[in-house]
Amino acid sequence: MLMAINRNNEYLSSAACVSLTGCRALVTGAASGIGEAICCRFARSGADLLMIDINQKGLEKVKASLSSCEVEIETHVLDLSRKAAIDDFWESRKNHKPNILVNNSGIYPAKRYLDVDQEFYQQILNVNLSSAFWMCQDFIKARENRGGIIVNVSSIEAVTPFKEDMVHYSVSKSGVYALTRSLAHDYGKRGFRVNGIVPGVIKTPGIYQQAKAALKKMNLGLLKSGFKYKSRLAVGRLGQPDEIAKVVLFLCSDLASYVQGAMIPVDGGFLSS
Ligand code: NAI
Repeated sequence: MLMAINRNNEYLSSAACVSLTGCRALVTGAASGIGEAICCRFARSGADLLMIDINQKGLEKVKASLSSCEVEIETHVLDLSRKAAIDDFWESRKNHKPNILVNNSGIYPAKRYLDVDQEFYQQILNVNLSSAFWMCQDFIKARENRGGIIVNVSSIEAVTPFKEDMVHYSVSKSGVYALTRSLAHDYGKRGFRVNGIVPGVIKTPGIYQQAKAALKKMNLGLLKSGFKYKSRLAVGRLGQPDEIAKVVLFLCSDLASYVQGAMIPVDGGFLSS
């Protein structure tokens, strides 16, 4: 990666500091919402992309939308809830290993805590937490002592639960917190920069789906907490996917060369209100 100050002690331009030219970034959950926005930002900053998702059509659509960017783009259909599938993927990538990993894929169906069964709970943990756990492990193994950059996507629900019927989700995203900070601690000296994003509510297809499901089931508790959330927002509006993507870009760029183990809220001021 670039260094902000070169050997002659001269500052590089800010544009050079934020460039990802020469990088290869793996983004999970790339077919929709926040993952799609991260891919768009990365491609516009010069990174080659490895986009992973369970949704093939979505991946193809995002790839087509980036055709004017002069970067290499690979897509992989993968169910990240399966460790075997993750390991097979990394085994197949003897060459062209990424040096940036963004663990973004996630699901957030609402369910009353008392109705959660083992299968449902396990699936939430597999997709939201275990996938990131195993992806990080394979990434660190693959990069050995060369280091790399990891960004994990958590949620404000991990810090301040506010939506009803999301206990399972809060637990999974708290795990992402712990994973990020532990890896930052253990692997910083080996050249890995590991940080996380803590998004507030962002307008994505996933969020629209959740709202639709809540309306259909007349889940008034969830709908009410949605309204209460908005009234507490310091900026008075929900976020856009690109507002997360820009902070992920910052964390992956040389601008963040001394940022380690940080969990950055991008939440319109919710946590501080
Ligand atoms: P989204 O539903 O729009 O996109 C998520 C993507 O993950 C989809 O393309 C989906 O196909 C993929 N995915 C789901 N299960 C998968 C699996 N087993 N294997 C591979 N890919 C899979 O969701 P959104 O809103 O963009 O969320 C992205 C991340 O941000 C998630 O981790 C979510 O928990 C987190 N987040 C989102 C917030 C929001 O308000 N949108 C707030 C806080 C956190």
